[in-house]
This record gives sequence, structure tokens and C-alpha cells, in this order.
Amino acid sequence: MRMTESGNSRVYDLWARVYDRTFGRLVHRRQIIALKQLRLSPGDRVLDIGVGTGLSLLEYPADVRVVGLDLSEGMLLKAADKTRREGLDHCTLVRADAMLPPFADASFDHIIISHTISVVSDPARLLAWATRLVKPEGRIVVLNHFRSGNPFIAWWEDRVNPICTRIGWRSDLCLEECLDGVAVDVSYRFKLNTIDFWQIVVLRHADAPRHAAPPAAQPMDEPLPAPSQSKTRLAVDLP
Ligand SMILES: C[S@@+](CC[C@H](N)C(=O)[O-])C[C@H]1O[C@@H](n2cnc3c(N)ncnc32)[C@H](O)[C@@H]1O
Repeated sequence: MRMTESGNSRVYDLWARVYDRTFGRLVHRRQIIALKQLRLSPGDRVLDIGVGTGLSLLEYPADVRVVGLDLSEGMLLKAADKTRREGLDHCTLVRADAMLPPFADASFDHIIISHTISVVSDPARLLAWATRLVKPEGRIVVLNHFRSGNPFIAWWEDRVNPICTRIGWRSDLCLEECLDGVAVDVSYRFKLNTIDFWQIVVLRHADAPRHAAPPAAQPMDEPLPAPSQSKTRLAVDLP
């Protein structure tokens, strides 16, 4: 069974009811650490792809501009509740498909993709878009589970994948599949500990100037349609 955008929209409308109390609780600490890897400066513009219920929005400093993009109306309504309740005026929500995002090239200083790359129908295409939307010096931070390099664990990840895809994500996605044909380099990647399920991967444009990895780091096809030439659009499609 393949992931599809229409299926995701339906599944995550359902997840929205319980997300913060279940999966969200499990992943929030890692989201905070992933956000730190963006190394934000005042005035930066950040795109949070697959922002979901907006748990990450609570963690951005108020002096950056954040655009949270998602496909699911249910998830976005939860995110909108948070932005209203917490007065997050620096955050804007956009309902759109990350497979065809409504922004011009180089619109953002940095991009974060948290637990979404294994959800979309075409992970490499998502990253290809991210490389276009981020400025040449920007970071793309991906937080996700990737298929294990351990054959025994990978065997189980393949076995449970049909169930996982039904409930909203792939368990068999390899990082290599995401990077295939995409002009990015892995700057560094790490896990919170060796047995952690999730990884934080920091990507840069393949031709970006090199920066030293921080000490915590563990070294471990389709052609895109033409981008919109219009200015960045903040199409808030919410009540
Ligand atoms: C597992 S949730 C992650 C939410 C949040 N980033 C987090 O880390 O808690 C995946 C999110 O990706 C969204 N999503 C899936 N496919 C998408 C697409 N093609 N475009 C935009 N959002 C998408 C889903 O609606 C869902 O909110």
C-alpha cells in the first residue's frame, strides 16, 4: 500500500483528535532539539512542512517568522487553536500540499520537516522542493524514523510497514531513498541515544559553504513543475 496525499489528509483529520495526547507527547522533546539545529537568527523566515497540530510552533522565538504548512484541515485547526490561544502572531498557517508548495524559490532562510518525510507520497520530491524553497545558505532539518541498518530490525520494520501505512506513515523509509537525486549534502545527523528510534538529519545545499559539525554529531524523478514566479503567498485557508 502506497502513501497518498488524499489518504493522508483523511487519516490526519482523524489523528488530529488525539495527536497531542499520543504521538505528539512522544516526539515533542525531539522537535525542540531539531529546532535548535536551525540556529535561528532574529528576522529569519522558517517553513515548517507538515506542521500538524502546531506543537513545534510553541517553541519558535517570537522574533522569527514561521509558516506552518499542512494538508490536513483537522490538524491545522488544532494548530490554529494554539496560535490564537498562545498569541503566536509570528506564525502563519497555510493549507497546501507539500508536493506542490505555493511559494517562490528561496523564500525561506531555513526549513524543518518533522515526522512528515515518511508520510508524503514521494519523500525525494519533498526534499527537492525544500532545496528550492530554502535560501542557498539555509539548513533543512529533518526529524524522522528511518529504516534501520541492522538487518534484524529492518526485517521487522518491513513486516509492520503495511500496518503503519494504514495509520499514517511508512516504517520502511531509508534516508538514502529521500536523498536520491536531490542536490543536498548531509551536514550531520544524530540520535538522542544509540537506541532511539528517531534521527535528526541536517542538510545543506550541495554547493553551500562547508561548516564544521557540532560535537554532538554522529557521522554516521520525476521533473518538478516550474515554480510560481509570484511573490510568496501566505494563503491561509482556515476559518
Ligand atoms: C506525523 S504528522 C507530524 C506533525 C508534526 N510535524 C510533528 O512532528 O508532530 C505528519 C503531518 O504531515 C502532514 N502531511 C502529510 N502529507 C502532506 C503533504 N503532502 N503536504 C502537507 N502536509 C502533509 C499530515 O497532515 C500531518 O499533519
